[in-house]
Amino acid sequence: MSKWKRHFYTPVLPLEEKRVTGSKEHIELSKQAARECMVLLKNEYSILPLKERKIVLLGKAIVDYVKGGGGSGDVYCEYITNIYQAFCKKEKEGKLQFYHALCDFYDTYVKDEYAKGNRAGMIEEPLLEDTEVRKAAEFASVAILCLSRFSGENWDRLALSNEDDFVKVENIAIQSKELYGISDFYLSINERRLVQQACNNFESVIVVINSGGVIDTKWIKDTPNIKGAVVASQLGMEGGTAIADLLCGDIYPSGKLVDTYADDLFSYPCISSFHKDINSVEYNEDIFVGYRYFNTFESANAKVVYPFGYGLSYTTFSFSDLSIKHIEAQCYEVRVTVTNTGSSSGKEVAELYCEAPRGILDKPSLILVGFKKTKELKSGERELLTISLDLSNLASYDDEGLIAKNAYVLEKGIYKFYIGSSIDRLEKTVLTVSVNADILRQVETKLSPSRLTTRLNRNGEYVINTTNKQKNELVSGIGRQDINTLEGVIPVGHIDRNTTRADVRASMDKWFINVAEDKMSMDDFISLLSIDDMIDLVGGQPNTGVANTYGFGNLPLFGIPNVMTADGPAGLRILPECEVNTTAWPCATALAQSWNPDLVESIGYAAGKEVKENNIGFWLTPGVNIHRNPVCGRNFEYYSEDPFVAGIMGSAMVVGIQRNHIGACVKHFALNNKESNRKECDSIVSEKAIREIYIKPFEMIVKNANPYAIMSSYNIINGVRAAENKELLSDILRDEWGFDGIVFSDWWNHSEHYLELLAGEDVKMGNGYCERVREAFDKNLITRKDLENNVRHILSTILKLD
Ligand code: BGC
Repeated sequence: MSKWKRHFYTPVLPLEEKRVTGSKEHIELSKQAARECMVLLKNEYSILPLKERKIVLLGKAIVDYVKGGGGSGDVYCEYITNIYQAFCKKEKEGKLQFYHALCDFYDTYVKDEYAKGNRAGMIEEPLLEDTEVRKAAEFASVAILCLSRFSGENWDRLALSNEDDFVKVENIAIQSKELYGISDFYLSINERRLVQQACNNFESVIVVINSGGVIDTKWIKDTPNIKGAVVASQLGMEGGTAIADLLCGDIYPSGKLVDTYADDLFSYPCISSFHKDINSVEYNEDIFVGYRYFNTFESANAKVVYPFGYGLSYTTFSFSDLSIKHIEAQCYEVRVTVTNTGSSSGKEVAELYCEAPRGILDKPSLILVGFKKTKELKSGERELLTISLDLSNLASYDDEGLIAKNAYVLEKGIYKFYIGSSIDRLEKTVLTVSVNADILRQVETKLSPSRLTTRLNRNGEYVINTTNKQKNELVSGIGRQDINTLEGVIPVGHIDRNTTRADVRASMDKWFINVAEDKMSMDDFISLLSIDDMIDLVGGQPNTGVANTYGFGNLPLFGIPNVMTADGPAGLRILPECEVNTTAWPCATALAQSWNPDLVESIGYAAGKEVKENNIGFWLTPGVNIHRNPVCGRNFEYYSEDPFVAGIMGSAMVVGIQRNHIGACVKHFALNNKESNRKECDSIVSEKAIREIYIKPFEMIVKNANPYAIMSSYNIINGVRAAENKELLSDILRDEWGFDGIVFSDWWNHSEHYLELLAGEDVKMGNGYCERVREAFDKNLITRKDLENNVRHILSTILKLD
């Protein structure tokens, strides 16, 4: 199809011979991916794969399987295979037998609850009579107990401390509080009772956790009767099948945790102050996020139940022949041979961690700096893995001027590298690199805090922050738009001001396609646009075709197409009324658990095809915010607590999507780590933590994968709204990192449109406010040159689309 035809005419033509959207092939790929994303937590006496051929399925989650999260991350697919259905299939194939009476009960119960309007994962665990459980236990000695969780945007998995604040979040937050109390991190009363009944009556219990976020697992580790456990995450439409395959041994587990599973919610350093103030969050733990906290401080280490990077296999592996080789500048190659020393096939991940010299600047005890997964290794088979290592990923940011103010510093000293199968299982062999003098990358201070009270240091003390700077409020020269006029406004498109400009209409040699065909320069083209043309370009445009999140561009007189956007990241999100089913893939956290960037790239490529086939130009994917705490409502949409994992997975996703010549939009830039009151919440945090942790994945993706777009986040960062933040959107993103694409706002944020444009955000979505930008222009608050800057970003990105 010739350039931009999909955007102009939204044809119904398939991308390939047959439609790829929701196709059998894509569903099969979703299933294959799901099979690689599960993490085996516990396997005492090799209870798994199941040897017993008779089992009992317990827990409403066998039917109430949750394929993914809600809100914009939801996906409408043709069907969902739940765990019960998948086991029915296994039984038909003669692989096992299971106890049906309970399953029939759960099936009816869950269907009734759905009919009442309750959504998957938001249903109370029904109580079972002890006699029923005893009866089931007469049938089999092994029970598989399943638990599921649901979450979504605009609420968190931790109940608000102030009742009045519930109006600022989704209603579902109240339902969650009713079901689980303070947090669904913990089991509900009924779930606890079920676990008790299972452990009292069955010799062996195997737990399956169907949750996109971390839940309590201490009880799993501590209970001897619980012999097996799997973190299945939320695996998309074929998750039930993947889970049954894994338990029955048709496949093997090869996933690893991408978050630390601690013994209690309050063991995470950020929890006690999470809801202290609905309008702000202080990131007092500083750079000590996730394993950087738990692994560095001894007292915290004792609270880890299942550590970062952890995951068992049905076989065993050994690592040998470790070596390191200098390639160039700060780049090295680490080699390791992985051998399957067990009796069945499997895949292993070699994780490379660095212990930096203690030095002057605060650093965590270990940082993940590389990883590689093997291919399938049969018993006795080995593979030599080569892991690339870039020492600059290890640099610390000096915001206090202890070595060099506002510089990334790789401190001199000996850097020790360890390889292992998780952060707590490292080989004894130490590889070393010696850095003889501090290596600096000087930048300027940006995004500094003004009211951060304390920061956690390497000695485990919360010390007074000394980096606060006076901040001047960003004043709008036209006043601030009333936020009540910003919510949910549907773009109507610009009024065709150009109808009288016959010169433009008549003359196709002034169309934008001439720039694409090198017949006109971008500057010459932009000079044809009036101020109002440009103002039209910087706001969201009406939906066409099956889109529901609006488009941008749309100046027909100049032949600029209306390019549609659509949500992700777990699949292309088209509203059900369109009757177009798409493929529901495993959620982002699940994909990261595969530790397989090639797999993630292949999903980006396949899902990107669905996006393109439906005439959409930008997929609002991936989300790469950090799992700062286990209860952020949108963690399922993000990859990990670790910026390196998020950066690698996000880059793979972007590369896969953009191989289709459509755009990926990396979100939410930056520090959107709390959903409650997300549009008005100030993330108060040090520049060091911002640079080393929170914007690091974005930096890696911009530098490695060249995304066409970035989405600014709703929240405020140290007193300045992310969407109006020039230091973030221009100085760091473009000047420091070299980003050359479009910056979109998040949909219906609370920012002032012209201030967003000045900051370097190019398109306000879902809707722009032309009249307010025009007013700012008339008052000389924004100039033609400023607008040309935004328009150049928009147009040069449209040029990249097919
Ligand atoms: C979400 C974005 C999403 C957008 C469009 C917002 O509420 O935060 O992630 O892409 O809506 O649906």
